[in-house]
Amino acid sequence: MNEYAAFCGYDVNGVDYFDGLRNVMKLILGNWKMNGRHQDVEQFLTQLSDHGAHLTQIGLAFPSPYLALTRAFSRLNCSFGAQSVSVFEHDGAFTGEVSAAMLADLGATWTLIGHSERRQYAKETGEVLVNQARAAYRAGLNVVFCVGEHLAERQSGGHFSCIEAQLSELVAVWAEEMPKEIVIAYEPIWAIGTGLTASLEEVEEMLSFVKRTTRAALKNINKEDACDSIRALYGGSVKKDNASALLKLDGLDGLLVGGASLKFDEFYAICLAR
Ligand code: PGA
Repeated sequence: MNEYAAFCGYDVNGVDYFDGLRNVMKLILGNWKMNGRHQDVEQFLTQLSDHGAHLTQIGLAFPSPYLALTRAFSRLNCSFGAQSVSVFEHDGAFTGEVSAAMLADLGATWTLIGHSERRQYAKETGEVLVNQARAAYRAGLNVVFCVGEHLAERQSGGHFSCIEAQLSELVAVWAEEMPKEIVIAYEPIWAIGTGLTASLEEVEEMLSFVKRTTRAALKNINKEDACDSIRALYGGSVKKDNASALLKLDGLDGLLVGGASLKFDEFYAICLAR
């Protein structure tokens, strides 16, 4: 399954059963962060095969050592992703690095780039993110680019300029490498893992800003054709109790779920929310 098929709900034989529904189907991605063990991943995937075989448009980013386990579950209509990739594209003397090509080799079809925890703890900003995104696209991985403001930025009214600056990081990459689908996840930092969610109005307003800004950036680099491929997701304390209200928002194309993706029942309930 290629990365586009995986995102768009093609079946394993490449048949697009969801043609025409694409615009109304929401993408639900789970980010396990640095959690779980071999057994937890296998148990989750077994539960997903037993109960969630009908689900489409879902994706999971387990810690990368466990990506290889997903091979046994390749018939699931679920895509697998990485949480970050190396800036280095080619094999070589880069101790500790894991390349996008290696992750693709293990079955990843997409990767998160720019998650606030990477920006904060691994100090990944600007040039690093650009190089990671370029490496990911070149290895055939789609990129779920994460953007989000700190609470102080939101409170001082600087949230739009903060998101605009983060989005502009990727434009240089798109000028060289155009993915089939542009996926942006808006995750206000103050809502990640805190139990606080942005209000529905705040999410709707920001997703519309993200799409407008991305479209304008694409026009500037003469890539207007890609405007229809933009998907905007929300992440930050998504739970089964707030998923359905979020999924009804105009302009929201899916959810990026952290803590609540660790338990199968909770994640499954989010996938079923309408
Ligand atoms: P959370 O994390 O759902 O635990 O808030 C979201 C994320 O970091 O992607």
